[in-house]
Amino acid sequence: MNEKSVLVSGVKPTGDLHIGNYFGAMRQFVELQEKYKSYVFIADYHALTTSHPQRHPDEVRASIRHIALGYLAIGLDPKKVVFFKQSDVPAHTELAWIFNCLTTMPYLMRAHAYKDAEAKNKEISVGTFDYPMLMAADILLYDPAVVPVGRDQKQHVEFARDTAQKFNSLYGETFAVPEPLILDSTAVVPGTDGQKMSKSYGNVIPLFADHDELARCVMGIVTDSSGERPQNVYALHKLVKSEEELAPIYAEHEGNYKALKEMLIEDLDRYLAPMRTKYEELKNDSGIVDEVLESGKREARAVSEAKMERVRKAIGVA
Ligand code: TYM
Repeated sequence: MNEKSVLVSGVKPTGDLHIGNYFGAMRQFVELQEKYKSYVFIADYHALTTSHPQRHPDEVRASIRHIALGYLAIGLDPKKVVFFKQSDVPAHTELAWIFNCLTTMPYLMRAHAYKDAEAKNKEISVGTFDYPMLMAADILLYDPAVVPVGRDQKQHVEFARDTAQKFNSLYGETFAVPEPLILDSTAVVPGTDGQKMSKSYGNVIPLFADHDELARCVMGIVTDSSGERPQNVYALHKLVKSEEELAPIYAEHEGNYKALKEMLIEDLDRYLAPMRTKYEELKNDSGIVDEVLESGKREARAVSEAKMERVRKAIGVA
């Protein structure tokens, strides 16, 4: 027996992919696709929770296609990875319901995402409140050993672990208890303003930006005026060049923010260009996304349905 351990992770289709998604999580999916049996998906039902007011269905569709093409463009190999859309696999929402009946309101009220939304006096949908239980279902259906994510998802993976343990202790060993896989160096990729890069902060560098757009984003990086190394520029530069390579450059151009930003533009461009080219190529292939997602759907359904049969028996509905 040398079956591979399992990896599960997903990305929400809520706007353009950015380099925070890539360095924080997606790059790991590609690097680990040989080592792990991987289930990688588009979290389209999770994306509905961010739709206030509701997004236009065409925009949702376009966003899903963008993420699908993005995964393929960064090198995810659909022959090795089970690559699918969450909404194509009904077991995710079915298991989320069962978890809803195990979990409690006070427990879910501890979620950072919920607390943030509440602190901002936002109108919170039940889906937003319940987000961690759908995510627990996404993960636990496939018995993963690891879940590669950025640090902002750590608590969600902990909720999944707690939920697995709770279910197992009530109904017997059913779910593996996974570990989050968070790389220290890219756990929180900063945006152009130094805060965490996030679509909702408007501080992103899109993963498939062309040279002009990269230039616009980089020139907009907020720098302090202390005259030392511009931290926000350096933090992003470190993603694409080693600290050894950067040390002499930052020493030579100390205080010259413009020159450093120009170098960052070129280095980012060089690093991202092959993925961008691939993305542009794939965009013209009208059938590829449907084809790949169709085969992922079949395999994910088979695996998750087998798990659900055990779960239904365990809880006594079958
Ligand atoms: P999402 O779509 O917000 O982000 C996708 C992945 O990118 C990581 N990430 C970052 N990492 C480092 N620095 C940043 N600035 C940064 N911004 C985003 C996120 O941590 C994430 O790993 N809830 C998830 C999607 C999801 C999921 C799952 C993930 C649904 N079900 C099951 C894993 C397993 C989310 O909203 O990620």
